[in-house]
Amino acid sequence: MTDIFRINEELSNATAQEVVVWAVKEFGSKIALASSFGAEDVALIDMLCEATDSPRVFFLDTGRLHQETYDVVERIRDRYGLSFEVYFPQTNAVENLMQEKGPNSFYNSIENRRECCHIRKVEPLDRALSGLDAWITGLRREQSTTRGELAKVELDESHGGILKINPLMDWTEEDVWAYIRSRRIPYNKLHDQGFPSIGCAPCTRAVKPGEDLRAGRWWWESPEHKECGLHIKVDSEKNADKR
Ligand code: ADX
Ligand code: SF4
Repeated sequence: MTDIFRINEELSNATAQEVVVWAVKEFGSKIALASSFGAEDVALIDMLCEATDSPRVFFLDTGRLHQETYDVVERIRDRYGLSFEVYFPQTNAVENLMQEKGPNSFYNSIENRRECCHIRKVEPLDRALSGLDAWITGLRREQSTTRGELAKVELDESHGGILKINPLMDWTEEDVWAYIRSRRIPYNKLHDQGFPSIGCAPCTRAVKPGEDLRAGRWWWESPEHKECGLHIKVDSEKNADKR
């Protein structure tokens, strides 16, 4: 059994770049970065391309993303010569959802919102992770109340016990932007328009100065519900159902 505690001890002083280098050495072609092409993820793509000649990056295209997100996908492709592994939702699930509940059901209730996230993100993520031994994310502790307990390396019980690696776990927003600027990495232009966190277009809005980093995500819901299911742990999923 993987000794997560020992791995985290060993990596406790490692920089984000060193964690990425460790991860690709450890898992080779069985590790991939999950990228939504937000600020954290473009920084990680840069680190991953430095760390290996055969980086694997997957992208869950929900079908409801901003044009600005597709624009940065294009610019990152050009800069790094990367082709991404793209996962779409299952056609019949989207067709049924649209026919039964219309295109905007997520505004009506938390259950409807979770249903849409499940179809467009969670199920495609399961397919993206099948066959992998580990995945890398851009999660940071500072992002929300639901992410305060993150570790650099976690056992992902929701996905068959593979490892989930969060190299930017202890980075601040300033750290992310300093890295992007120093390396002149292409980034999503919505970040310049007050969007610190970017998801699907109908569920993301700009935040006002001083507002929480994720205040613009599912802004009509309370903070403890603001996870789409990509990063919900088995236990918290049970608790969320009880709420
Ligand atoms: S979310 O769960 O609220 O949507 P968030 O946007 O904060 O997640 O992103 C956190 C991390 O989840 C990203 O750094 C990335 O690793 C992964 N992620 C989020 N959305 C996607 C996506 N559409 N495709 C691939 N990975 C994603
Ligand atoms: Fe659906 Fe909104 Fe979730 Fe995107 S963020 S999958 S549009 S509910």
